[in-house]
Amino acid sequence: MSKAQPGMTKVQPGMSGAQPGMSGAQPGMSMERADIAFEVNGAAVSVCVPPVRRLSSVLRDELRLTGTKVGCDAGDCGACTVLVDGEPVCACLMSAASAAGTVVTTVEGLANGRLSALQASFLVHGAAQCGICTPGLLIAATALLDSNPNPTEAETQDALGGVLCRCTGYRKIVAAVMDAGRFASASTDGAAPHPPAGTFSPYSDGEKGQVSAPATPSPRLSRREGKGDGQHQLQRLDLDRRMPISGHAVGSSPIRLDGLPKVTGGEKFGGDSFPAEALAVLVVRSPHYHARFAFGDLDAWVKVHPGIVGVFTAADVPGKNCFGVIAPFADQPALAENFSRFRGEAVALVAGEREAILDLDLADFPVRWIELPHLLQPCEAQAGGAELIHENRPANLLTSGFVERGDPEAALAGAAFIVSGAIDTSYVEHAYIEPEAGCAYMDGDTLVVVACTQAPYMDRDDVAKVLGLAVDKVRIVPTATGGGFGSKLDVSLQPLIGLVAMKTGRPAALAYTRHESMISTTKRHPAEMKATIGADADGRVTGMIFAGDFNTGAYASWGPTVANRVPVHASGPYATPNYRAEGRAIHTNGPISGAFRGFGVPQATIMQETLYDELAERLDLDRLDFRLKNCLRNGSETVTGQRLESGVGIAECLEALRPHWMRALIDADTFNSANDSRKRGVGVASCWYGCGNTSLPNPSTIRVGISAEGDVVLHQGAVDIGQGSNTVIAQICADALGLPLEKFRLKSADTAITPDAGKTSASRQTFVTGKAAEKAGRALRDTMLRFANVSEKAAIALEGASLAIREGEATRHIDLSTLKADADGLVFRAEESYDPPTLPLDAKGQGKPYAVYGYGAQIAELEVDLKLGTVKLVKITAAHDVGKAINPLLAEGQIEGGIAQGIGMALMEEYIPGRTENLHDYLIPTIGDVPPIETILIEVPDPEGPFGAKGLGEHVLIPTAPAILNAIRHATGVLVCKIPATPSRIRAAIRDKEARR
Ligand code: FES
Ligand code: FES
Repeated sequence: MSKAQPGMTKVQPGMSGAQPGMSGAQPGMSMERADIAFEVNGAAVSVCVPPVRRLSSVLRDELRLTGTKVGCDAGDCGACTVLVDGEPVCACLMSAASAAGTVVTTVEGLANGRLSALQASFLVHGAAQCGICTPGLLIAATALLDSNPNPTEAETQDALGGVLCRCTGYRKIVAAVMDAGRFASASTDGAAPHPPAGTFSPYSDGEKGQVSAPATPSPRLSRREGKGDGQHQLQRLDLDRRMPISGHAVGSSPIRLDGLPKVTGGEKFGGDSFPAEALAVLVVRSPHYHARFAFGDLDAWVKVHPGIVGVFTAADVPGKNCFGVIAPFADQPALAENFSRFRGEAVALVAGEREAILDLDLADFPVRWIELPHLLQPCEAQAGGAELIHENRPANLLTSGFVERGDPEAALAGAAFIVSGAIDTSYVEHAYIEPEAGCAYMDGDTLVVVACTQAPYMDRDDVAKVLGLAVDKVRIVPTATGGGFGSKLDVSLQPLIGLVAMKTGRPAALAYTRHESMISTTKRHPAEMKATIGADADGRVTGMIFAGDFNTGAYASWGPTVANRVPVHASGPYATPNYRAEGRAIHTNGPISGAFRGFGVPQATIMQETLYDELAERLDLDRLDFRLKNCLRNGSETVTGQRLESGVGIAECLEALRPHWMRALIDADTFNSANDSRKRGVGVASCWYGCGNTSLPNPSTIRVGISAEGDVVLHQGAVDIGQGSNTVIAQICADALGLPLEKFRLKSADTAITPDAGKTSASRQTFVTGKAAEKAGRALRDTMLRFANVSEKAAIALEGASLAIREGEATRHIDLSTLKADADGLVFRAEESYDPPTLPLDAKGQGKPYAVYGYGAQIAELEVDLKLGTVKLVKITAAHDVGKAINPLLAEGQIEGGIAQGIGMALMEEYIPGRTENLHDYLIPTIGDVPPIETILIEVPDPEGPFGAKGLGEHVLIPTAPAILNAIRHATGVLVCKIPATPSRIRAAIRDKEARR
């Protein structure tokens, strides 16, 4: 049918996805083409495209300059920034016609055969994490430096204010831009762009407190096999920087091994390398929170749309149309059947030739919607008689977690001081700058999916199940991932493009629009929490009761993990002898809530840490002292009854903050005595976080070997989503093996090649995969020493294709090229696994849920405008116990990035379905929102971790929001109980307090 039939509802605008290469396409837009000529990166080009096509689309799809990224197509993210006649512009907002006759510079044009000073500075400062924002930032900064070679911090922030970064917290970006001048001569005369001694890094190779130039990877180390292109010339440039010497990789801060393509535009993310012959795919999605739907004559519709190859629905799914990250709770269909349970749920796929999809208007797509009543709040979903969102889940309760220890009621009844409170938090969107993207194709009888992800092996298993394939007939090849923060742990488009590829026999490609990404993927759980905490007259916490309802949305995703993790952590890192905590995950028709940095712990910590401030006040104790008095120490028992024998570093974190705390309080007093309308406040909060799965196996396996050419080949299946695992795990392996990092060559994640290193989540990669890498490195070393029949004291070295083994005065050389290589090209190899030793939790939540915990504490200093309710952050000081800082620069980057996300959670981020489904209405911190951050790395080693290391990725966000809320309370006397603490909520709380006077 060519028109909607009576009773058919048109698909609402925005309820379908744009396509790879169609970032400029809008249905109904004239597709008349014209020749348009301009200059790009010094070369004259001419393209024949519709004049209204976006410049970003022309650059990426016609000219294959995919260094220019697309994060929103709306001028909100700045990822597409290019120079046009020397001025930075958003290429997604500029038409091809407007570009005619101009001179365009993209990120690919910056290097000119040699890294620009700015690119070198970005590498040295660790300013690129996932790297998806990096091209836009480099271009914006290039424009700044062209006119102002020595910008101030304010000028830098002003110039880069239009480009969003979700990973770094911006501080290293600002530093890199302001520092770029030091690299200028080096980058133009071919000499090494060394930073001057004494000004770059507080860490030397393996030793804190000294200063040294950071190392730069050798050409070999910069290569990730099968990823990136056009980098070879640059990789041959020797920046003349030393890698850490053998045995000193751990504790040093070499430039990240995968850094170079991130600053040159060569990195390939999910949407950057689609096969030319790929079918484009559109997803038809529910415009309603809850609806029944039926399709009309789909075959007839296809016939009247030239270039459309097929429409696929749940009826076409060959396997079990149900996926989920936690098997017993798996409940989400790849394509909904008859009913949609949330706004944005996928119901059908339209596949076609790219140009046909570009011009497709889905207004006549034959689907009939009957909107049904919906439940968006947990209280509605739990009300008596509420319709069940899943029939097998009474009261819409997905699951609950529970921990109980001692007699909390009696403890609270006997407490000298007692405080109670209630706090609600909001949906938080991950807002990674790279929307989900990927392609799929058949390789013989194997389905290959090439997409951004955090969990390739979990993707493989879910895709195989949905498509009815054996797991060994599905191969997942992760692309570079432009941020994930938990949401890319769940499959999104993988089974959808896999279905099209299977059904058509042609490659299928899909890149979500920003709107599509935001409406269809997971969020941080909104929480409704209440708690009571009591202390004795000496200020020791005696008991706590916590209850939290977490809105888990329409499907399970990671709801069970949140429900179980929260009760274990809701005490904070404090001794709490009498305790009860319950976390409940409740279904609604809202967005699916899943994993987001902390799995519910950031929400629970807001509840606990704000009450701790109130309790300290009642006790008339300094807030930092009160925390120190109660914090866990070696030998303490947690609320699950786990005895922590060693490695507990929260006291060290709090002690490290003490001088900053004293100074900040004095500064605040001084400021406040001189100001009436603005008041300064100081807040502190702590965190702890168990690394890895809660009482569940989560093993990692690492393979490492020596090639006949004399390379150390590391099969590293942990996906690096920007946090640096490619580098950190290699550093660990290098020192365990006793060979220098520069000899390493990475084989990145690919389910057909690399062993399973598990998912990138729960702060497990440095600890769990790092431990496997440590074991594998030692095992490989043992293998070689045994082969040479020497003792374990012997030293090894690779000299070309020769293995040199030195023991005492004797050195023996083994010609590797004479040894028989295995199928992986390795002449020596080792493969080792590690699974953290945990114990199940019993009915009262008692047990050993984690083998290793990490700890941290942060101070927030800020000013509040009492009339406007606005907050200006002055400084964040963060002390985090990482056990051993494997790579201090990367650890700092994680901390700064986590703090930026915590700032967003505390002050501005509130995802409201139907209202904030884009990066214009949904606000995340910009470069001007993140204040100076001082990082203090604490090293209290945990014997379980590799070289004593603990995880860090989740921890860093947890204390930020409560520290900010406590600082607002310190400044104003009011605690905002609905998060984020927006100016209107702060102002309302101040007004309420004034009214009560
Ligand atoms: Fe152009 Fe986001 S893609 S501003
Ligand atoms: Fe900026 Fe990832 S490094 S978004």
